[in-house]
Amino acid sequence: MPQDQQVDELFDVPDVEEGHTVDEETVILGPTQRPVPDFPEPGPPPPGPKHAMVIAMCNQKGGVGKTTTTINLGAALAETGRRVLLVDFDPQGSLSVGLGINPHTLDQSVYDLLLASNVDAFDVIEESVVENMDILPANIDLSAAEIQLVSEVARETILNGVLTPLKSHYDIILIDCPPSLGLLTINALTASDGVIMPLECEFFALRGIALLTDTISKVQARLNPRLEIIGILGTMYDHRTLHSREVLERVVEAFGDRVFHTVIKRTVKFPETTVAGEPITTYASSTAGATAYRNLAREVLARCPGK
Ligand SMILES: Nc1ncnc2c1ncn2[C@@H]1O[C@H](COP(=O)(O)OP(=O)(O)OP(=O)(O)O)[C@@H](O)[C@H]1O
Ligand SMILES: [Mg+2]
Repeated sequence: MPQDQQVDELFDVPDVEEGHTVDEETVILGPTQRPVPDFPEPGPPPPGPKHAMVIAMCNQKGGVGKTTTTINLGAALAETGRRVLLVDFDPQGSLSVGLGINPHTLDQSVYDLLLASNVDAFDVIEESVVENMDILPANIDLSAAEIQLVSEVARETILNGVLTPLKSHYDIILIDCPPSLGLLTINALTASDGVIMPLECEFFALRGIALLTDTISKVQARLNPRLEIIGILGTMYDHRTLHSREVLERVVEAFGDRVFHTVIKRTVKFPETTVAGEPITTYASSTAGATAYRNLAREVLARCPGK
């Protein structure tokens, strides 16, 4: 069977999930061309006092799915009963907009928490449309922070200081980074335990990744030794094109098992969810896109023991 046809057929098998054994001999490979392990359905969050794990969604390339992944992974984690806080750390405010918040009408935002000393985070945090999921919103004010932080003492650790007292209220905190490697992103990496790197499955995806991994290594060495790469996520994947598949193959060659088995396909449902101001898990709960982010949530939890 030609390889193209074989791969297409694997994706279009109606009743068998990717990675499940059809019979004793045939193991279906997932889109990353590896057998997909069976990730367990997440149980409830661990009992006892909370101590949130902080994860930055990071790639300096624009439009690769950072914000979409922050919202939908957050919502999928919240569905498991975990308390989730999403931090909009991009002056574009796309995360806030994507959850139905108008950034122009905010009294206070993450900017005030970074630069004013007398602001209570809980006055800034808003509930989202999703149960168990809150948001720390942002707007264009945050672009000034990039400049104002330069003259602060310990300027790379300011966000860490803001998030540390919030950790006892949440299981997971996800930070949506801006498309740059400036001081905001360095603050996000310094405040985080892990990084997820979304990569669009297109030709230039790997360009700039060396710079990103180099930046992560420097933050690990100089500011935050606990930082680790949790995984690389293929986004906007189109299984019908050889191109998408080849890019994913390259990404797996470069990063091996750090690449998530879950891959997010390209679908117009995601732009629609932004207009609707809610995650795909509530907007179109039974679609492939929603299932993909639920699978990603399982993989992330499997890689973060104790969460
Ligand atoms: N899997 C997908 N299929 C189709 N469209 C998608 C997908 N994921 C994201 N998009 C759309 O692509 C655009 C960019 O996505 P998103 O805003 O998540 O990227 P980003 O990396 O956060 O961008 P920026 O760097 O500007 O912050 C948005 O319009 C979004 O709705
Ligand atoms: Mg974004």
